[in-house]
Amino acid sequence: MSHTDHQPRNILVTSALPYANGSLHLGHILEYIQTDIWARFQRARGNQCLYMCADDAHGTAIMLKAEQLGLTPEQHIANMQAEHERDFGGFLISVDNYHSTHSEENRELSAMIYKRLRENGHIASRTITQAYDPEKELFLADRYIKGTCPKCKTEDQYGDNCEACGATYSPTELINPVSAISGATPVEKESEHFFFTLPAFNEFLREWTRAGHLQSEMANKLAEWLDEGLQEWDISRDAPYFGFEIPDAPGKYFYVWLDAPIGYMASLKNYCDREGLDWLDFWKKDSSAEVYHFIGKDIVNFHALFWPAMLHSAQFRTPTKVCVHGFLTVNGKKMSKSRGTFINARNYLDHLNPEYLRYYFAAKLTAGVDDLDLNLEDFIAKVNSDLVGKVVNIASRTAKFVSKSGGALAAEIADEALWNQFVEAAPRITEFFETREYSRAVREIMALADAANAWIADKAPWSLAKQEGKEAEVLAVCSQGVNMFRALITWLAPVLPETAKKAEEFLGVQLNWNTATTPLAGHSINEFKPLMQRVEKAQVEAMQEAAKESLAQLQAEAKPAGAASENKSGPLADDPIAPEIQFDDFAKIDLRIALIANAEHVEGAGKLLKLTLDLGGETRQVFSGIKSAYKPEDLIGKHTVMVANLAPRKMRFGVSEGMVLAAGPGGKDLWILEPHNGAQPGMRVM
Ligand code: 2FM
Ligand code: ZN
Repeated sequence: MSHTDHQPRNILVTSALPYANGSLHLGHILEYIQTDIWARFQRARGNQCLYMCADDAHGTAIMLKAEQLGLTPEQHIANMQAEHERDFGGFLISVDNYHSTHSEENRELSAMIYKRLRENGHIASRTITQAYDPEKELFLADRYIKGTCPKCKTEDQYGDNCEACGATYSPTELINPVSAISGATPVEKESEHFFFTLPAFNEFLREWTRAGHLQSEMANKLAEWLDEGLQEWDISRDAPYFGFEIPDAPGKYFYVWLDAPIGYMASLKNYCDREGLDWLDFWKKDSSAEVYHFIGKDIVNFHALFWPAMLHSAQFRTPTKVCVHGFLTVNGKKMSKSRGTFINARNYLDHLNPEYLRYYFAAKLTAGVDDLDLNLEDFIAKVNSDLVGKVVNIASRTAKFVSKSGGALAAEIADEALWNQFVEAAPRITEFFETREYSRAVREIMALADAANAWIADKAPWSLAKQEGKEAEVLAVCSQGVNMFRALITWLAPVLPETAKKAEEFLGVQLNWNTATTPLAGHSINEFKPLMQRVEKAQVEAMQEAAKESLAQLQAEAKPAGAASENKSGPLADDPIAPEIQFDDFAKIDLRIALIANAEHVEGAGKLLKLTLDLGGETRQVFSGIKSAYKPEDLIGKHTVMVANLAPRKMRFGVSEGMVLAAGPGGKDLWILEPHNGAQPGMRVM
């Protein structure tokens, strides 16, 4: 690799290790794409960049899930790992090693680190009292206890907070508490636990969190926690537990979060042992290598407090940076199981090209921690307009003229000023990738693509080609077109690795970040073949349908009676109550009782029914997307509630003059509102 203006750096990057407990969803994929773009960018610049990941295989949830499936935990995590690795491949995530926290390397390293902490006096032990399931003979974490909320008396609430009224409490306050695993009434039981003495690291962490390892918003958040004072961290769990037994403490296991980050090291050690490298080169105290962890904002305490403190005590280096990202929303809402916006990696890959999503995320990712929205309409529009309409278009409209003239690019640049825009943008684009401001890099790249397209349109080589004696000009314009395309696709290569590979075949050269703006002169290119298809709306809809189906399947596979799920879900948890409004806001919405005077199918509309709503004097025509749940004849004669003052909306099949109210995730599961007997058409609903 030549032309680098620096010594190659040695970089280790990681993504958070996913639990070996469920399928990956697009929220996971956001992080892997963010990490992968950075890793590929670093390699493209000529740096050594190793990307390590693994499954996070331990814990009670995984143990119970395996039991429910009739598998050993080892079988269950092997299945999950195979699925996860397949999805990583599907999204073109270039991990150098995908390992497991349930591995020999991790067992060894966890024991070693623990012993060092203990030797340094950073492990305390004491007896604590905890809820215990006497039937299952298992200590119960809060989320495995259910009961009636002490505040609002809603039944079936989790051990530490109520989904109905939002109250938080301790599990001992629940009315009629039961084990979510067996249904037994929990008892209190004592047990000895081991603690990592975090308060001893207060000063160290105060400095560390301010030393440039974190985004400032995260450093501020952590400062708040440090001000409140750190508690000792309970790092042990009692048998039965799927994990590693603690040295010299039979029946005691490391809490999953103790050995999870050590899994980053273990994956690297596994890789290095195989490749003849030394993993300590990355992790020893005075290492000149860089370590970057990419994580979501929900696990920043583990990565920016507990982990650096452990590393510090155990005489290892700490991370160079912990890069925190926000959550993924879909169409503006939290990914929701009940609304069917919960999209698995596989649902996407079965219907869509991974590069579309890689590009969309890149175009929206910043170095900040704001949530990122996958708006599916915007997704289609952006991919089609930017990638197909702008970038690929530059090559497809110029390549054929170069080929016609023999295939060799012109010796000179046709428009120096335009080319200089590319040359000047190069260091900015590099810097934006380096600082993980991908959206800004993409904006620069697309601005150049716009300039290139405008220039080509202005030169109109397709018209020149029809004129006598303009052959040289056509070649000059189109050669610059190809060269501009080459620069753009070089910068997009970390985002679009497959398209970049196809572009290399077409260009007949390896893309090289460091020479992207040195034009290819006199070089022969190969025949241009289409590089990328447009996204079709039908593909996106098919993905959404598939997502709903896998969800239904998941729910049908079901938990055993009363079993707790790892994550709380349900209509309210998935779709939290909207921000507060004033009465005046509400009063603007004129809700009326309506009689469904007629309901009929709409020709050509897959989802709609046409309703004629009688408001007792006026009628309204409303197109309602409830066909999947209702037959027209079952609706006629019923009363319902409609939004009567909604602005009319022109649809393909006619004007819709309002909306009927319904609940449910969609498909068969949709229920329109019906008033109690006696309510008359036209009555206002307040
Ligand atoms: O939150 C999670 O999904 C964890 N499995 C992440 C672990 S990251 C690292 F510490 F292993
Ligand atoms: Zn409550």
